[in-house]
Amino acid sequence: MVKVRIPATTANLGCGFDTFGLALGYYNYIEMELAENTWVTVKGQGQQRLAKGANNMIVRAAARVADRVGVKTGFSLQAENNIPLSRGMGSSSAAIVGGMYAANYLLGEPLSIDELFEMAVEMEGHPDNVAPAIYGGFTISYKRDGKYGCRKLEAPKRLTTVLAVPEVTVSTKAARGILPQEVSLADAVYNLGQAAMLATSVATGDLEAFGASLTDKLHQPYRMQLIPGAEQVMENAVKAGAVGAAISGSGSTMIAFCNGRERQQAVAAAMREAFTQNDVEARIIFAGVDNCGVKAI
Ligand code: HSE
Repeated sequence: MVKVRIPATTANLGCGFDTFGLALGYYNYIEMELAENTWVTVKGQGQQRLAKGANNMIVRAAARVADRVGVKTGFSLQAENNIPLSRGMGSSSAAIVGGMYAANYLLGEPLSIDELFEMAVEMEGHPDNVAPAIYGGFTISYKRDGKYGCRKLEAPKRLTTVLAVPEVTVSTKAARGILPQEVSLADAVYNLGQAAMLATSVATGDLEAFGASLTDKLHQPYRMQLIPGAEQVMENAVKAGAVGAAISGSGSTMIAFCNGRERQQAVAAAMREAFTQNDVEARIIFAGVDNCGVKAI
């Protein structure tokens, strides 16, 4: 039996579309053992609607690991889900990474963590939530010559977040469908500068520069229309003392970044007020950063 802890993640961080990710100190847990028959219980988010049999995403991820190493087994597991579903906080990456990591652990760790990364990206389709869920910290993912890779930077310890999670969901498919297939050279150059600055600010721990480098011209301007009040939520967060704000992944959660914990409450109230003015209920989650990634506890 193993119990695994997997962090929530935020992807893109504004300027780093499909590239940047950050692991958050907010977790799902999976207890798993090898079993003849597959048996799944889910507590928390998605308790009612998530599949409980072989079709469960955690089980499918675990089964890929067993298949890859040539072991025939089922899995008995209990998932404790805290990460909201379909809100841009990496719930599906957490399921995939957690399922693969737990299965690999129970099978005696035949696969390396980098092999699990490749398998998880293949199953998820995008690397930017998978990478921080596996490695923790701030991650830069890339695809070169058809192969995905990733580098991790330690996230500054003083970096904290406020997540405003609206009741509305946004499917990643819809949020990608709305994007233009071509962008102007000026917009591409803008994002290049911002992305380079954002990675540098993480490396140097400069949180003011981090906040200023989040803005983006490739996806957020188009996606704002899918999240009522999104622009106002970001403005309010910064006015209340956040260093910057962004759409978390493809939405619908809005994420604000703070220097320490002092301003978090004020930022949360300001974000929630902007949603309320747009007739949207939102719940607030406070999270620090996670520099550890998935682990057995
Ligand atoms: N980067 C993706 C997107 C989300 O913004 O569509 C997570 O993979």
